[in-house]
Amino acid sequence: MRRVPVWALKPGMIVEKPVYDLNGSLLLNRGLELKKDYIHHLKRMDVPFIYIEDNFIPDVKIEDVILDETRARAVNTVRNILEEAQRQPPGSNLGLVLEQRNFGEVVDEIVDQLIENPELMINMADIRSSDTYTFGHSVNVAVLALTTAIAQGGYSRKQLRQIGSGSLLHDLGKIKIPLEILNKRGPLTRDEFASVQKHPEDGHIIVSRQGILEGPAADIILQHHERNDGNGYPHNLKEEEISPLAKMVAIADIYDALTSDRPYRKGFPPHRALEIMETMGDILDNEMLQALLNHIAAYPVGTLVKLSTGEIGVVVKNRVGYPRHPRVRIVFSGENLEGVTPFEVDLIGREDRTVKRVFSEEEVIKLIPHVVPLLKGGLGRKE
Ligand SMILES: [Fe+2]
Ligand SMILES: [Fe+2]
Repeated sequence: MRRVPVWALKPGMIVEKPVYDLNGSLLLNRGLELKKDYIHHLKRMDVPFIYIEDNFIPDVKIEDVILDETRARAVNTVRNILEEAQRQPPGSNLGLVLEQRNFGEVVDEIVDQLIENPELMINMADIRSSDTYTFGHSVNVAVLALTTAIAQGGYSRKQLRQIGSGSLLHDLGKIKIPLEILNKRGPLTRDEFASVQKHPEDGHIIVSRQGILEGPAADIILQHHERNDGNGYPHNLKEEEISPLAKMVAIADIYDALTSDRPYRKGFPPHRALEIMETMGDILDNEMLQALLNHIAAYPVGTLVKLSTGEIGVVVKNRVGYPRHPRVRIVFSGENLEGVTPFEVDLIGREDRTVKRVFSEEEVIKLIPHVVPLLKGGLGRKE
């Protein structure tokens, strides 16, 4: 399986990970052969990349921390609730109550799957278009925040549910922000920025009035943009004034926002996002940040990397606790692209081999035709 940017897709490629449309229905299923029309459609929807099946690392499975079906169901549930909340006449909450039933189940499903897979690293990005950004982002933030809580330990089932539900709805208040501001490419004016900064309070008002969430789960919505140094919003809270669950969601929120393509910039690759977050220092809770970073692969499976030795290879495995020390299958001995019989090195505890740089999407597309023949037989087999 390989993550391929939509601009580089070609007819005939086989879809490996299902793609869902705006309504949460299946657009491209696993195993489907891409046609020109489908690729056009993906471009129109502004989908940045999809996962395709190929002979790149045929024996390696890239596992997501939650099931595709669960992710799709969660995205769909968040979308329903946000749309319902937007339609609601004041004073009525019937639709929301109905949605809520589904909501609790989805939260439990995510919590269960994350508890069952504590050794899985976050290796994958979810597929989302700019239209579905907030929904996909919400699910990602839930997964990241819950991963942090489970890694830290000591949270009750009830608290995990609060983290899950609060993070799925953390940006609910954005339904009040005009779309042209939300999707603006240039810098925001002062007034526009003020309108964006109202979303924690707006979201909190909606969930409280409608009786959807309360207590610590509702606090997540209100406080997820507060920062330890008091420079956050809306209330410039500091340190202990901020609920721990909101601090956890804040970290998840920043990571997901950094790695996502936005109308005004391309997303950072994971290794860059991790570096940026580490320099944020004390405005975030350091223990929570470390707990999360231990579970995020700086170089996800399938990333093409150059090592300090000059060797070039592809990441095939990551281990919890060692985000920057993947297992790499070497294919070239150096930049001159001299192929070798593939062999693997584990970078954990190896001072002599470290990741020096990551190849960009553009470089990977150029290198792939040279790499696939070397890798398609799996490990250690000669051409
Ligand atoms: Fe937010
Ligand atoms: Fe957010």
